[in-house]
Amino acid sequence: MKIKVGVIFGGETVEHEVSIISALQAIKNINEDKYEVVPIYIDKNRNWYTGMELLNIDNYKNSDFLFKNIIPITLCKFKDEFWLLREKGLFKRVEDKIDIAFPIVHGANVEDGSIVGYLESIGIPYVGSGILGSAIGQDKVVMKQLMKSEGLPIVDYVWFYDYEYVNDEEKIINNISKLNFPVIVKPARLGSSVGISVAHNVDELKQSIVEAVKYDEKIVVEKVISDLIEVNASVLGNNEYAEVSELEEVMGVDEFLSYKDKYIGGKKGTKSKGMASTNRVIPARISDNLTSKINELSLKVFRLLDLSGVVRIDYLVDNKNGKVYVNEPNIIPGSLSFYLWKESGKDYKTLLDDLLTLAIKNYKKKKKKIYSFESNILENINGLKGGKGFKGKLKM
Ligand SMILES: Nc1ncnc2c1ncn2[C@@H]1O[C@H](COP(=O)(O)OP(=O)(O)O)[C@@H](O)[C@H]1O
Ligand SMILES: [Mg+2]
Repeated sequence: MKIKVGVIFGGETVEHEVSIISALQAIKNINEDKYEVVPIYIDKNRNWYTGMELLNIDNYKNSDFLFKNIIPITLCKFKDEFWLLREKGLFKRVEDKIDIAFPIVHGANVEDGSIVGYLESIGIPYVGSGILGSAIGQDKVVMKQLMKSEGLPIVDYVWFYDYEYVNDEEKIINNISKLNFPVIVKPARLGSSVGISVAHNVDELKQSIVEAVKYDEKIVVEKVISDLIEVNASVLGNNEYAEVSELEEVMGVDEFLSYKDKYIGGKKGTKSKGMASTNRVIPARISDNLTSKINELSLKVFRLLDLSGVVRIDYLVDNKNGKVYVNEPNIIPGSLSFYLWKESGKDYKTLLDDLLTLAIKNYKKKKKKIYSFESNILENINGLKGGKGFKGKLKM
């Protein structure tokens, strides 16, 4: 019997559309002899749906048609199975069942551990990193603090909350100025370059902050590497075994790699293929020494953040002195970095098969640990102390 894979995508995130592209690419490439895909789409209002119409990318251009033809569902555990339940009048009906979940989501509210947290709580096997790594991977400040504590190279930065800026703008501007201009201002927990801009002076800095706080309460400002080479590596594995792909060198047309560079490829009229649209050179044109250094750093970041599945770790290389800095890990990378694995000799079908196999392995490993135990402490309790008049029964 085929394994039923629930591919979860979409969500209320600025990378909603990118996730649809990544998920449909993956679904097209999954081995149909072994797996049966059940698409699970989360719309921008966080409603969950299933239905075959979700498999055609053109249907997303006509939302009236799409929403008429897909089925609202909830994913839940019942009798040791994972059900997609739909409302049917006064009743609920099982629309479908899945054996394993495959979240292909990008950005805040989904990639940040929230989806994985739900999957963990119902106990379904799932592809990718756990709650902790996913959450840290979404927060550019916490990831830097952690990497710094382990001696990994990161660029100098300052961070603050929006209300702190409102309370003491001067102090924060002074702190940032110590980094020396130009600086790059980023919402701390977004992605796809949304809300990011470069500031060359105090006036521009203030404008950049106004832009960034539209998207997040937490802001990070970094020193700009002006003569920049951007190199990315993908890592595949879990905490026992992991391997690094060929490295890519990515190029944008703007001052930094923008949303347009990432997904529209800079070329007019080209159809977006998600992250596969970016202008890139594989392998990156860097020295063997630097390649080994980046491979080594990639495994360190993967281990440090307790990652699993396929991730992409991005680097900033200062062309002036050859220094390399970890920019950020992407816990569920655009297009799942399939193009990097293809260049490393692993086709997309095999990559997806590896990911699903890893998910089952991780699940089985976890199952061996003890999470609960028989206890009689509740039997010995006669009512709870503390609440006046409360003797074990709730009075409404
Ligand atoms: N310190 C920096 N110096 C120069 N360019 C940078 C720096 N940080 C980021 N960038 C540029 O901005 C892009 C987006 O930044 P990144 O931190 O990766 O945010 P996102 O999570 O939105 O992808 C990078 O791909 C790179 O082109
Ligand atoms: Mg990035």
